[in-house]
Amino acid sequence: MKVTVFGIGYVGLVQGAVLASVGHDVLCVDVDQSKVDNLKKGLIPIYEPGLTPLVEENVAAGRLDFTTDAERAVNHGDFQFIAVGTPPDEDGSADLKYVLSVAETIATHMQTPKVVINKSTVPVGTADKVTQKISETLQTLSKSVEFSVVSNPEFLKEGAAVNDCLRPDRIIIGTSDDAVEEKMRELYAPFNRNHDKIIVMDVRSAELTKYAANCMLATKISFMNEMSNLAEKLGADIEAVRHGIGSDPRIGYQFIYPGCGYGGSCFPKDVQALIRTANAIGHKPSILEAVEATNYAQKDKLFAYLSDFFNGDLAGKTVALWGLSFKPNTDDMREASSRRFMEMAWEAGMKVQAFDPEAMEETQRIYGQRDDLVLVGTKEGALKGADALVICTEWSQFRAPDFALIKSSLTTPVIIDGRNMFEPERVEDKGIAYYAIGRGRSVQAQ
Ligand code: UDX
Repeated sequence: MKVTVFGIGYVGLVQGAVLASVGHDVLCVDVDQSKVDNLKKGLIPIYEPGLTPLVEENVAAGRLDFTTDAERAVNHGDFQFIAVGTPPDEDGSADLKYVLSVAETIATHMQTPKVVINKSTVPVGTADKVTQKISETLQTLSKSVEFSVVSNPEFLKEGAAVNDCLRPDRIIIGTSDDAVEEKMRELYAPFNRNHDKIIVMDVRSAELTKYAANCMLATKISFMNEMSNLAEKLGADIEAVRHGIGSDPRIGYQFIYPGCGYGGSCFPKDVQALIRTANAIGHKPSILEAVEATNYAQKDKLFAYLSDFFNGDLAGKTVALWGLSFKPNTDDMREASSRRFMEMAWEAGMKVQAFDPEAMEETQRIYGQRDDLVLVGTKEGALKGADALVICTEWSQFRAPDFALIKSSLTTPVIIDGRNMFEPERVEDKGIAYYAIGRGRSVQAQ
């Protein structure tokens, strides 16, 4: 089947490559000429395991192509995916300007019937706005072509996006049109094996499902972070508590890991956007507000531990930082806890020596050259001459460090672990002070 994907970002590129891999004929379109040129040469703009070979294979097989030519793109696909960004505007609402501009482009060039599919995470009611935009544009151009707008949210996780997309646990299709439902079922048939993963619902429910899923997961994390703060104050160990509650299948072990706060492109943005949506209809979203406030405070904790250890005497000290990305297996720094930590450390007059397996280039891009940031090529190198070690991301290569080297490298051996990677006794037995989240040493998040 012929598919067009608007927006060669994270979602669009992965979705396009995966659809091509099962035999669909996919054309991805973007306004960024250099991105398109690079992709044609096999240069992938994001770090995502498994994506490069998938793109290369499908480009070579002639099933996947890239263009900046919007007219060609619209004429290519019977299915038109909209996978452009919806950045938060000043008040945190999702900004729909790119989505609506694609809708206008589709309407301008379409000659044959189209199924327009909203893949971007968009507020409830967006499909109606896209429908309206296409209708108005067609009317202005005195054209009459059939189309239907479907909501089909993605649930992929960075670092596992290819697999999530190839083997989805659900495929949400928001449409009330039976013929369109049939077409969507055919498009996704190669992914709908073993048992039926397709869930069809009205378009508004599909739009809300995406937000509800991410907000529920963010809620689990903030809840556990609140419990970890209580555990610290009460002399309990949150890791024992996590184990204890996770064994109840109604709660489960997933997404109950306490830490230095959630980041990334989805949770912070989606929680905020749903709060704005609720406010706009006069509903006070108390739980979501608490989830957001708890996460905000949690991101201050690593600095608070550091300040506690050094009794506030931080100016002129150097901190080694392991992990910059918002989670492992990505170079994404959006809303990463490391950013808040570094900014607070700099504010206090500290120098940061950081190492990350993937995100150092991105860190450089964000912060540029500055005297108080040194990006080091190895985790051991980052320790040299530092006073303390802070861990922000649980990359697997940090799991079994050389504690003797950490002790001898740091002037005052202390590890501040935002991801609870080690057993406190094991670290303290090596003569290193250890702060972890909800595991003993207590300090109030500022
Ligand atoms: C998330 C959703 O998981 C995915 O379904 C959706 O489509 C997009 O948003 P992603 O942002 O890639 O995916 O990362 P995820 O693995 O969910 O982690 C998000 C953040 O939560 C990370 O900062 C992670 O460190 C944090 N987290 C996750 C915790 O602090 N504790 C946990 O138990 C799980």
